[in-house]
Amino acid sequence: MKRVIFDTDIGIDDAMALLFLHFAPGAELAAITTVAGNASLDNVTRNALVVAERFGIDAPVFRGATGPLGDALGEGYPDFVHGANGLGDIPLPAPARRAEALPAAEAIVALARQQPGELSLVAVGRLTNLAAALALEPALPGLLKELVVMGGVFGFHGHRGNVSPVTEANFGGDPLAADRVLGAGIATTVVGLDVTEETVMDEAFIDALVARAGDAGAFIHAITRFYFDFYEGLGKGRQCPIHDSSAVACLLDPALYETAEGPVRVVTEGVALGQSILGEHPQRYLSDAWRDRPPCRVARTVTAGAVRALYLDCLA
Ligand code: BDR
Ligand code: CA
Repeated sequence: MKRVIFDTDIGIDDAMALLFLHFAPGAELAAITTVAGNASLDNVTRNALVVAERFGIDAPVFRGATGPLGDALGEGYPDFVHGANGLGDIPLPAPARRAEALPAAEAIVALARQQPGELSLVAVGRLTNLAAALALEPALPGLLKELVVMGGVFGFHGHRGNVSPVTEANFGGDPLAADRVLGAGIATTVVGLDVTEETVMDEAFIDALVARAGDAGAFIHAITRFYFDFYEGLGKGRQCPIHDSSAVACLLDPALYETAEGPVRVVTEGVALGQSILGEHPQRYLSDAWRDRPPCRVARTVTAGAVRALYLDCLA
């Protein structure tokens, strides 16, 4: 059983990933930590509480960062992707529960100290909370069991960025945090757009969820109306990539992904701000920026049908 901290800017695909984790028999949620991204921190924290209440998720919710550590791409929030409320503008109740008083970065440190080597962290938003946690506790890499990140794009299968030609949104939203976290020496797997865009859910898949997944199916159907409209507007048809649930699938069954290995750097200034670069042959490179940096695993292929099947199995 994996005990998981889910660090999220809870928009539409994040909510789908949270339900995946909640219903997966091999995972148990230890905490949800929020970070601004798909919507404001207030909205994403409200979304976490609303989803937790509706589905009986009793893990505590901790509020995290309102903004990035360093230079970032873009301003405001992508309401054209996730809706102004972050969940496709479906009506949302005011949550009865509240977020905990402890800030997310402090909660990550406290939980990791209490359960050394036991916790997996799945990060599907900007990496600001985790970078702040590393600043509070430099020994954190040794206290966490593993980290699975949805972020970045590495050029496998010709994929390019979604917020600049070379930059994915989570890394573009806080490049400095991403560069620090990926260089920290945590046992890390990065699942980038290279594989999340290879793994899609279409209307037939959502219909299957509606038929088999009870209220989770109804909720996912409701929040994906807005999301599908957005992707349809891009000319991609009525379907969406499985971004954040791909990180969960990789945590639950790493064999679904083939990985490459090497240090990862994230560009923190200039025209390529937020670009992620995998150095597969660090000893050949002339710069210390690569040589002494701990490696990450980076997903390069996915068995997409098996990811969809696992998702349906967990929720059904
Ligand atoms: C990532 O950006 C966010 O909009 C999604 O939730 C996902 O985590 C995809 O680039
Ligand atoms: Ca996300």
